[in-house]
Amino acid sequence: MLEHGGKLRHAAQHYGIPLQQWIDLSTGLNPQAWPMPDIPASAWQRLPEDDDGLDNVAQYYYGAAHCLPVAGSQAAIQSLPQLYKLTGIKLRVGMLAPAYAEHAYAWRRAGFDIISLAASEIEAQVNRLDLLLIVNPNNPTGHTFEPVQLLRWHQQLASRGGSLIIDEAFMDPTPEKSLATYTDQKGLVVLRSLGKFFGLAGARVGFVFAEPDLLYRLEELLGPWPVSGPSRIIASAALQDRGWHARTRKGLQQQSQRLARLLIDKGLSATGGTALFQWVETVDAESIHQQLARQAILTRLFSEPSSLRFGLPADEQQWQRLEMALIELDYMDENSDSLREAAGR
Ligand SMILES: Cc1ncc(COP(=O)(O)O)c(C=O)c1O
Repeated sequence: MLEHGGKLRHAAQHYGIPLQQWIDLSTGLNPQAWPMPDIPASAWQRLPEDDDGLDNVAQYYYGAAHCLPVAGSQAAIQSLPQLYKLTGIKLRVGMLAPAYAEHAYAWRRAGFDIISLAASEIEAQVNRLDLLLIVNPNNPTGHTFEPVQLLRWHQQLASRGGSLIIDEAFMDPTPEKSLATYTDQKGLVVLRSLGKFFGLAGARVGFVFAEPDLLYRLEELLGPWPVSGPSRIIASAALQDRGWHARTRKGLQQQSQRLARLLIDKGLSATGGTALFQWVETVDAESIHQQLARQAILTRLFSEPSSLRFGLPADEQQWQRLEMALIELDYMDENSDSLREAAGR
């Protein structure tokens, strides 16, 4: 299986630092998660019922006509290639790269060849593809595609019977850029997650938006009760908490800007980012990752390209600790000037 952020126990053991001392910046999850209500005992005791109103609540929040709740968007990421494979049609699949690696992994595992595309290469290639997969905003680069451009690509693909799949796991802070509203059109699939903006990754809830026929086939493939009763209750309540959505959108943008400024101040200017993380491309990524880990701060290290993703600190104490740790950094790689300049060396 692929590597992911959030492996705090592993880091604690590897660096010999007790678990409770760590700051986890290795994911892009909101550290101030939506506050959990009490869950009635019946939610644990009874089988989940799919006419409990969650579909309507989700359709309203995401602005879409049809939806399928799934056990985290990861469940759909793994199943969609299987679904397309069942059609028996050979597809030329283009995929944004670098991006959330589970997509390429799942399509390759299902037997598809993938054409990896940088954001700037898609326009020239889209007419040669049957299926295009984009993560918007992208993880980890933070690159954001404009809806008009995506809709144009969708039209180009759909006019030849093709499809556009968009993973919008990090879209909640910028809902105006979502394509969920357009998913009643054939060949357009949008994935959303309750893990990032709501900070409820452990609940394992995501949604797929697409035309009813595709959702029906995906539902058949996934089988009954993909989302647990307690998670359905939490999802429904979180999606309806409009005051919290508005406050959180504003708060996350401010915190993300603060993080970008802090990193610049310490000589690590972000190459890209979203409201939930900043991404720094640097040849020193591995060294910085290790030095921060020795101070019990876990970041997400990427090797292709050499880079680090920083999630948001949870509270003022964590901000102070991150700042101190960044001041302490020592850069060994001779290719990295910006850091030495920042440190006055
Ligand atoms: C871009 C992106 N999409 C989807 C997922 C899967 O999230 P979940 O299964 O929790 O909805 C992740 C997880 O990190 C992600 O980064």
